[in-house]
Amino acid sequence: MIKPTKHAVAGLAVAVLGVTGLAGCGSLDESSSGGGSDKVEAGSVDPTALKGVTVKVGSKEFDEQLLLGQLTLAMMKAAGANAVDETNTKGSTQAREKLIRGGSDVYWDYNGTGWINYLGHDKPILDSTQQTEATAKEDLAKNQLVWGPAAPFNNTYAFAVTEDFAQKTGVKTDSDMAAYIKKNPSATVCVESEFAARPDGYPGYKKAYGITSGQLKSLGTGVVYTQTAQGNCDFGEVFTTDGRIGNLKLQVLEDDKKFFPLYNGVLVEREDFVKEHPEVQEVMKPLAEKLTTEVMQELNKQVSADGLPPAQVAQDFLKKEGFIK
Ligand SMILES: *[C@@H]1O[C@H](CO)[C@@H](O)[C@H](O)[C@H]1NC(C)=O
Ligand SMILES: *[C@@H]1O[C@H](CO)[C@@H](O)[C@H](O)[C@H]1NC(C)=O
Repeated sequence: MIKPTKHAVAGLAVAVLGVTGLAGCGSLDESSSGGGSDKVEAGSVDPTALKGVTVKVGSKEFDEQLLLGQLTLAMMKAAGANAVDETNTKGSTQAREKLIRGGSDVYWDYNGTGWINYLGHDKPILDSTQQTEATAKEDLAKNQLVWGPAAPFNNTYAFAVTEDFAQKTGVKTDSDMAAYIKKNPSATVCVESEFAARPDGYPGYKKAYGITSGQLKSLGTGVVYTQTAQGNCDFGEVFTTDGRIGNLKLQVLEDDKKFFPLYNGVLVEREDFVKEHPEVQEVMKPLAEKLTTEVMQELNKQVSADGLPPAQVAQDFLKKEGFIK
């Protein structure tokens, strides 16, 4: 999700889920708006909902974020807004700070990132409704930011193995992974360097699952996927919405102890902007509801694996769903 900008939380430089994690090859040097049309005609979107309103749309820099940014831009245009592309900001904290200082008016973030990284909590709340409310309430009170509407998709940390490995070993869950490593202390566990250090990453994970052996390899973003697919890593850390999971035929292990918090995508805006233009949420809500984990995996795959421009993928999806024509 998820992803590395640093945020000093409780004295720790905690990298935020999503900063580089999902960036596929080349997403940094290709224009995120390439391939999309500048004129967007409303389908089911009310073409007058935001007539004449300027809406600056932000995003972080990895593929899923570029997609979410382009989906939002097209919806805003369809609703008559003067939508300005402020997407592709490197780093979660930077993208958030851009919103706070008015460089953007709206962007997508992840509620788990909000709770753990921005608001500095180290433990999730177990009840998911309470958890979601707590994040929204605290960020509104402390930072005047509004979280909502939320999408069903969650981009969460997970470990993955090849289908071969899963078949040969019968490993299906993270508890199975722990048992396997206990029996095979030289098993390799590949993670992004950021995940190796963050408390909600490998240190906490090891503790939760009682892992005391295994060879930890810290790799660059993206390399974990290919090295795992090639069998050079037994276990690779992935993000659940990443398009490479399907593309490389990786199998995601179940987090049976529910260690990883869920990082659902949520539209974030400043309170003052929401008060002035509540229509943004109304326009975005029906789209947010369509964004399931499976949909995001497929859209991410079209960008990360097939190399299509995010704006084109976004607009094609919106057409298919009837939001635009
Ligand atoms: C994020 O949203 C999902 C879905 O509503 C919820 O289950 C989860 O607990 C939320 N996480 C946080 C940290 O708010
Ligand atoms: C998170 O995504 C998984 C995979 O699609 C899904 O089964 C689960 O219901 C989602 N959870 C939430 C709280 O959105």
